[in-house]
Amino acid sequence: MIFTPLSILLVLLAGALAVPAPGRGALAGYCNMSEDCKANECCVSFNRYSVVDLSPDLKRFVAGKCEPLGGPGAACYVSFAPQILITRYSFACPCLKGAFCSKSGRLPPRVDGPGVCKAVG
Ligand SMILES: *[C@@H]1O[C@H](CO)[C@@H](O)[C@H](O)[C@H]1NC(C)=O
Repeated sequence: MIFTPLSILLVLLAGALAVPAPGRGALAGYCNMSEDCKANECCVSFNRYSVVDLSPDLKRFVAGKCEPLGGPGAACYVSFAPQILITRYSFACPCLKGAFCSKSGRLPPRVDGPGVCKAVG
């Protein structure tokens, strides 16, 4: 095969197309951001709690795993950062609608910390 600039370009394009999309195909259930996940899920960055069922060559294409939004009793994280800026969560998903994240322990007010989802009211 002669490596003309065109054939090199085609090989590069094929390589770019081969990058699997987060949330689909071999990467279903994995994500870079919450939009890659199903409606009642969010994207949580790989961390020491993640059970990752991906080969290392696929794992480099994603940064996190889709996890369900938290029902009552689920672990969550109270964060005072504007939620709209968060594309991927570092500890756990926010709580489902109708639940809120109640901070565990005796952390002072306005300090981020782990919590548990509790039903509203
Ligand atoms: C997802 O993130 C990985 C690195 O973490 C990156 O290589 C890949 O291109 C990203 N995919 C998309 C579709 O943005």
